[in-house]
Amino acid sequence: MNNITFAIIKPDAVKNRNTGKIYDRIISAGFEIKSAKLLRMTQSQAEGFYAVHKERPFFGELTEFMSSGPCMVLALQKENAVEEWRKTIGATNPEEAENGTIRKDFATNIQENAVHGSDSDENAKKEIGFFFSDSELIANN
Ligand code: CMP
Repeated sequence: MNNITFAIIKPDAVKNRNTGKIYDRIISAGFEIKSAKLLRMTQSQAEGFYAVHKERPFFGELTEFMSSGPCMVLALQKENAVEEWRKTIGATNPEEAENGTIRKDFATNIQENAVHGSDSDENAKKEIGFFFSDSELIANN
């Protein structure tokens, strides 16, 4: 499964009213939205989602931020989706993100960085499964 990835429009971007502008970027970059939900994570959901980072010094702040308000979770389809989405969003740290990327244009700092993208096909599958059931993904036909 190399044509699907998982994205989050994070609480900073939703709060700053950038959801629509980021949807525009998603669509103009050629992704198809296979599913989307607006939700507010609990801190324990955020801890589960970011469990790979639990030893990092920023884990507490990260999970507090991710549960601080509503976010949009999305499943996005495009050929080579993981890599294509990572190119569209830019580097984790907006100071290092290339011009024209979503993080360059909408992130506040390395933590409040507007969007998330899976880093591998394997993690994309896991992350989509964390928020969506199979029946919530639009079928290709
Ligand atoms: P994301 O792509 O969602 O993956 C992990 C998140 O941790 C990352 O985006 C940032 O929001 C956050 N993060 C990564 N590095 C740092 C850091 N050095 N300080 C604070 N937050 C970070």
